[in-house]
This record gives sequence, C-alpha cells and structure tokens, in this order.
Amino acid sequence: MAIAAKIQTFIEGASWIRKMFEEGERLRAVHGADNVYDFTLGNPNIEPPARYDEEFRRLAAAPPLGMHRYMSNAGYQETRAAVAEVLSESSGLQVTAANVVMTCGASGALNVVLKTILNPGEEVIILTPHFVEYKFYIDNHGGVPREVWTDPETFQLDLQAIENAISEKTRAIIINTPNNPTGVIYPAESLQKLGDLVQRKEREMERQINVISDEPYARIAYDGMAVPSIFPFIDNAVIVTSHSKDLALPGERIGYLAANPRMTHVELFMEGAIFCNRTLGFVNAPALLQRLVAKLQRESVDIGEYRQKRDLLYEGLTGLGFSMVKPDGAFYLFPRSPIADDVAFVRLAQKHHILLVPGAGFGAPGYFRIAYCVDKGMIERSLPAWGALAREVGL
Ligand SMILES: Cc1ncc(COP(=O)(O)O)c(C=O)c1O
Repeated sequence: MAIAAKIQTFIEGASWIRKMFEEGERLRAVHGADNVYDFTLGNPNIEPPARYDEEFRRLAAAPPLGMHRYMSNAGYQETRAAVAEVLSESSGLQVTAANVVMTCGASGALNVVLKTILNPGEEVIILTPHFVEYKFYIDNHGGVPREVWTDPETFQLDLQAIENAISEKTRAIIINTPNNPTGVIYPAESLQKLGDLVQRKEREMERQINVISDEPYARIAYDGMAVPSIFPFIDNAVIVTSHSKDLALPGERIGYLAANPRMTHVELFMEGAIFCNRTLGFVNAPALLQRLVAKLQRESVDIGEYRQKRDLLYEGLTGLGFSMVKPDGAFYLFPRSPIADDVAFVRLAQKHHILLVPGAGFGAPGYFRIAYCVDKGMIERSLPAWGALAREVGL
C-alpha cells in the first residue's frame, strides 16, 4: 500500500471537502465566478490593517543584521514579551515572555500542546460542533478524541455532558471561543463553572487536566461583546491562537501558545512545548512575521465589515425562514438544515449555485455552515438564490 491505511481512511472520511471544492470549480467554469456563491472557506477576504504594511516597509527598509537566521525555538524575546503584555492586561495576571511560544499558527500551537501533554490512548474532549481538524491533530499524538455535544439550541457549554465524559483517561479539553462553526462566545460565568468542574475532577482523580482554549477569533466579536480571558478561571489552561483571522494573515502561519502562569509545573510544560515546537519540525515560527506582529498586538482588521456581513445574511436568511443562533463573533453562521439530511440540503443548494459545508463535517449532522468572510457584493447577489432555495425546501 502506498500510504498508511489510517491516512487513506481519514482522506476518504473528509472527501466531501474535496468534492465541494471540485463542484465549486465546475460551477464557476460553467456559470462564471460572479454567479457562484461560495460560502465554504474560512479564508478572510479582508486585507491586513494598514499598520501591517507600514511595519513591513519599515522592516524591509532597515533590516536588522541576521534577520533571517534561526533563533530560540520559543521565538524572539521581544515578540513573546509583546504578546505577554497584552495577555497580562486581558487576564489581570502576570504573564511573561517565559509563558509564550511563538508558533506556526493556531494549528501549529495545537499540535505542539497535544504532543507535549498526551500519553498514548489518553482522551481529549472536544465540543461538538467542532473544528474539523481537532480529531486529526489528537490522532497525530496518539490521543483519542471524545466528542461531547454543546447545547443543541444555544451551542453553549453543556457542563453536565462534559462532567459525564471526564474519566481517568481524560488529559485535556479543547474549547473554541468565539466558535467555528457556531459563532458563539462562552461568557465568563461558563468559564468559571468549567474551571470549577475541572478543578474538582482533578482533585478527585489526582491528575492534571489541561483546558486548551483555541481562540483565533478572539478579536472578532460584535455588539460590544468581550471575549473573556480563560486564565482567571482555569489554572491549567493554555491559550492557542494566531493572527490568521484578526490580522488576516492566514498564509503567513504566525500564532502562539501561552500557558497560564498559575499552571501546575508551568516551567516543565513550557520546556516540553519548546522541545515539541522544535521536534515537530516547525523549529521556530517565521522570523519575519514575528518581527512584525511584535508591533501589532493591539491591531485588528475592521470588525465592522464582518458585522455588516453577519447582519446582512442573518436578517436575510431568518427572514426567509431559516433558523439559527445569532453569532456573537467569528465569521460563520450555523443554521439548522431545513431538511433532516444536511448533505442532501448542501447538494440542493449547489443547484442554486450556493456552496456550503454540511454540519456532518463538524460532527453535527442536521446543520450547515456558512462562512461569510467573503465579498459583500457576493452576499447581496446570493440573496435571490437563497430565496429560491428556501421555496424549494418549503420554508
Ligand atoms: C477554530 C479554529 N482553530 C484553529 C484554526 C487554525 O488556524 P491557523 O492555523 O491558521 O491559525 C482555525 C482555522 O480556520 C479555526 O477555525
């Protein structure tokens, strides 16, 4: 066999992603790009903030000696200190550069954390609907994913379900707020309750459970909603995040992990994470980008643009009879599929040139995902097609 049987199975399980992409290409070739409404990818269509270009030019005009050399596997001290300063402000705790490792995006950070903590066969709780890659990342490091549903009406944490799933095998829980695909934000009270639960279970079982807070959308929150820092509520928490969304730099692969300074054995955890960043082959996060984001920790893209798009689609689609939670952040909507089979619904949508991702891809059949980090004109042009689709399914 040319590739591992497991990888072949994974590829087949995720083949609808490729099929969707191929169908999009086919539709665009036949009907023209303007007549196809592609809501499948979480790839920001906004350009990075103006300050990014300024810093980029400044750096190019006066490059420091050795700008492209290897550095410490944890990243530049200056960048980690800039990250730590912002995290100290948001958490009210004293986060230092020693608590931060710069990584190749949140994906890199997740893999580094999981490799650092997992023994073979240990379980990681993930909350459904969940980001599609979590299962593969957990598998990368010999762990076993344990899916636990959030509340299917609100997509908020179901603490009882989490408690029921925690066992002697549980090593970590991944939460994602603001959430992909639902757009919900977990309020401070929920984080406090989760922290209390985890701490109680840690005491009962005399073992550490890390809460990994995946937060690449933390700056994309609407209507004055704040995304509370997890650190004041959960001692054994690690933040994993990136500038893929808040600075619209997904192709540049720059992010970080940060451990709560109150974590048990935090120095050992950091030592492990730095070692794993190196031995996973990332070696260090891109040097050029580290220099830039050190200057941009207080910047983000224009959130108002995303809010407008959310409102346009949310109002448009609920007006047609689709039902969904109004998202507080990120750039996704996760409506209920109007017919039970979400894959069949997504196929029907393709007939109207609307490209979507079925909920099954997030472990949540019966829903579908819309990524609205797209051109506003495309959203406006798509509304009549949504109307025709709604009529076809009897809304
Ligand atoms: C919830 C979530 N986590 C992690 C990632 C990975 O992002 P990156 O590796 O670009 O930082 C994404 C990307 O879409 C995401 O939606």
